[in-house]
Amino acid sequence: MANLQEPVEIEGHLIDSGILKYAFDKIVEHGGQFEVLDFRIGRNNQETSKVRLMVKAFDQDQLERILAALEDFGAVVDWDDCQFVAVHQDRILPDDFYSTTNFDTFVKVNGEWFPVTNQRMDSVIVWDDGCASTKKISEVRTGDRVAVGRTGIRVKPQERSREYSVFDFMSNDLTAEINKGLLIAEIAKEIAHVKETGRKVALVPGPALIHSGADRYLREILQMGFIDIVLTGNAFAVHDIEKALLNTSLGVNQSTGKPEEGGHRNHLWAINEINKAGGIPKAIQMGVLQSGLMYECVRQGVHYVLAGSIRDDGPLVDVITDCVQAQKKYMAALEDVAVVLMLASTLHSIAVGNLLKGSVKTVCVDINEATPMKLSNRGSKQAIGIVTDVSYFLSILAAELKRHRQPVVAQPASVSEPS
Ligand SMILES: NC(=O)c1ccc[n+]([C@@H]2O[C@H](COP(=O)([O-])OP(=O)(O)OC[C@H]3O[C@@H](n4cnc5c(N)ncnc54)[C@H](O)[C@@H]3O)[C@@H](O)[C@H]2O)c1
Repeated sequence: MANLQEPVEIEGHLIDSGILKYAFDKIVEHGGQFEVLDFRIGRNNQETSKVRLMVKAFDQDQLERILAALEDFGAVVDWDDCQFVAVHQDRILPDDFYSTTNFDTFVKVNGEWFPVTNQRMDSVIVWDDGCASTKKISEVRTGDRVAVGRTGIRVKPQERSREYSVFDFMSNDLTAEINKGLLIAEIAKEIAHVKETGRKVALVPGPALIHSGADRYLREILQMGFIDIVLTGNAFAVHDIEKALLNTSLGVNQSTGKPEEGGHRNHLWAINEINKAGGIPKAIQMGVLQSGLMYECVRQGVHYVLAGSIRDDGPLVDVITDCVQAQKKYMAALEDVAVVLMLASTLHSIAVGNLLKGSVKTVCVDINEATPMKLSNRGSKQAIGIVTDVSYFLSILAAELKRHRQPVVAQPASVSEPS
């Protein structure tokens, strides 16, 4: 007999977003029981539903586990204020710290609910001067007041949007048996809509995009002004520049498809040319670099950040080699982004996925299903995964975007500072 119980309340689009089913499933999965005390169903598309449940468990541990799981569905467990504890040492958290999700979160202070700004997962909530925000462990400083426990913290789960969007209907679905061309056409429509409404589109590309010949389509998309931000690593920039300077990618001639004699040194030569000039923008000013995607980014005023990794050759002096600094630059760049295209990079796509709010729409394209699947598992209802060659994806996307109104070209260039 379950002898411990706790009332919880969940409000939102509980039926069409599947929240109620997931909440019931979680309680049963953890071996608990529930009783519906009250259920009010929203009467139309806009109105939310509200349920009051009595959650029952056999011991305190089990009850805690169930309540923690229900938080992700927006359950309000009790009505006390959120507790904050001051940090005594930089980057060391109080034992009972609350770890965030990528869903919108609210904290209760003096009986009033406050939204947590800059919401992102795997962070802590800090209360400062009437405002709650998230910080990564590396950003936490002595004296910061960090949220602990679970009381007075409310998470708003991701719901289906009230208007039709391909992101709602195709998210978390990696089936091969769909017409990918039609899906990409819908994605193009969404990107055009985002730009028309003055919001931003970010791109996270990997170097396979250059090797596969997809760069010609991406150049068209950049020239049409559909991309505001590029977040990537050393290899994408290096191979793009190698192609611009020598017409090879990883030493393979891009006109014949054949490896060039001694071509393995080509990317090192390209790195050296750019570093000699003092970086990409300077190489462009000096006339060393006159084409390619990085050239186009600078020309179009696309804000780019190149984050370093242990695999890098060189790297280019434009690459930020301190990974905590690079992560901060990525986070800052992603602040107002509405859609992110993640193309053929596992490392940078997953890194960016972990920095995004659940409400940001993402499209992940990879030839292997592991990366799109991992990104779909973030709990977002706005993540589309497409398993295909990036060249095919971009060829269709470029053609479709041409049919839409051309957006206003972005502001003048700003680039990451070298570390
Ligand atoms: N020489 C160098 O400096 C060098 C070379 C390679 C990588 N790196 C660095 O290593 C890190 C990780 O690199 P990464 O993001 O390329 O590697 P990654 O392994 O993280 O991701 C590569 C992804 O591309 C996918 N892919 C390959 N061909 C594809 C195609 N035709 N269409 C669609 N998807 C395709 C793969 O399935 C894989 O998921 C980066 O920081 C990068 O800069 C450096």
